[in-house]
Amino acid sequence: MNEVAQSPRGAVEQAVVLVVDDEPDLLELVGLTLSRMSLKTRTASDLQSARRLLKAERFDLCLTDMRLPDGDGLDLVAWIQENRADLPVAVITAHGNVESAVRALKLGAFDFVSKPLDLGVLRKLVGSAIRLRTAPDEKTADFAPRLLGSSAAMEQLREMIVRVARSQAPVHICGESGTGKELAARMIHGSGARREGPFVAVNCGAIPTELMESELFGHKRGSFTGAVADKKGLVQSAEGGTLFLDEVADLPLHMQVKLLRLVQEKTVRPIGEPREESVDVRILSATHKDLADLVAQGLFREDLFYRINVIELRVPALRERSADIPEIAEAILTRLARRLNATAPKLSAETVQTLQAYRYPGNVRELENVLERALTLSTTDSITPEHIRLRTGAPPAAVEPAAVSGAPAAEGYPALGTQLESLERDAIIKALERTRYNKTAAAKLLGMSFRALRYRIKKLGIE
Ligand SMILES: Nc1ncnc2c1ncn2[C@@H]1O[C@H](COP(=O)(O)OP(=O)(O)OP(=O)(O)O)[C@@H](O)[C@H]1O
Ligand SMILES: [Mg+2]
Repeated sequence: MNEVAQSPRGAVEQAVVLVVDDEPDLLELVGLTLSRMSLKTRTASDLQSARRLLKAERFDLCLTDMRLPDGDGLDLVAWIQENRADLPVAVITAHGNVESAVRALKLGAFDFVSKPLDLGVLRKLVGSAIRLRTAPDEKTADFAPRLLGSSAAMEQLREMIVRVARSQAPVHICGESGTGKELAARMIHGSGARREGPFVAVNCGAIPTELMESELFGHKRGSFTGAVADKKGLVQSAEGGTLFLDEVADLPLHMQVKLLRLVQEKTVRPIGEPREESVDVRILSATHKDLADLVAQGLFREDLFYRINVIELRVPALRERSADIPEIAEAILTRLARRLNATAPKLSAETVQTLQAYRYPGNVRELENVLERALTLSTTDSITPEHIRLRTGAPPAAVEPAAVSGAPAAEGYPALGTQLESLERDAIIKALERTRYNKTAAAKLLGMSFRALRYRIKKLGIE
């Protein structure tokens, strides 16, 4: 494996790592490991000499121990944030000392590795850090999904995203349903050192509890009835990339314990496998629920909350940034029209006003739905207020007429079968969209077999 970064000219430029530790044995071990990665190492045995070197020379990564003769590694993390903000710094923590790892990450450390050093973990950490310096932010920005909107709140959010993308710290994204949490997660992945790696989104609420462990961590053949072959977990399939735990609040308590080990030790143990494996994934999570409140109710483990929530991003509700509505609406219309091979209709000034006055409980996703409907209602090249159907005071119609089937129910009330079908349809479409129409992946998300999914797609007339 060649971890040496290529400079734009194609010439190989040797990266330099500053290792700060007062144990000669550890310095030697790290130095040896790094030299096998064709990296150059400089060492310092206390804070004072570290700062002196940092002022005098150029480095690509700083790796520091926590307890040093003249102070705390955290002080160095803070000093680097102030004086050499571009330099990724990672800390070496005592085994099990999550407290200080979390503090370091909050202070701006890029990542941590715990003692005794697992050289595999160390190599991966260093590899990610070195890739960061060759990450020209703009280059991939065109292809990456983007959160649109020019409101101050959105500008701020995008800035935060760029900032946290440089770190490996767990980020928790909160915000109402449909605000763009998943999009934010994809942006973090797409503008960080792991963007060449996979982005694996797991909907924790969609996987049946009894399958959860095997889906996430995998299993060995024969470890339980039905385990006919070895199976790789979703966590391992995110190796080198990002694991996005969506609806993390829905994670059952027994899984929360296992996840803790992943976040803390960067290891997983597939079912039936006696040994733990080390994995290199960055963990992002999201929920529209109030996680702190669930912790207070005893429904979410406090220790896990503390660890996945090292950095919190809040995606504001659409009604808090109605100035963004025209821009987002236009982008949505352009996208929808392109799908129909048509030109996007214009929004009349009055329509924009109508759209901006509404409160959008379903946020951007609801705006998408409103516009999709308006597009089908409009027969001209412009959309006027009468094409806009918003959910107002009256209870919203539970089902689309197209989904109606089966026996007629009491007037004004959809039959139960119809309601279930509509729920099922929504869940399937959502899973398909999320997996970019990969049915195997969608079936996995929904916790059903590929065949069962194919059957339902046919039955519900999706596609
Ligand atoms: N700022 C934005 N600009 C453009 N499109 C957006 C923006 N925010 C959200 N969207 C779009 O709105 C839809 C919903 O976004 P997303 O799935 O990221 O929301 P979410 O917060 O994860 O929702 P949920 O809580 O329902 O899972 C997506 O189609 C997304 O592309
Ligand atoms: Mg989502």
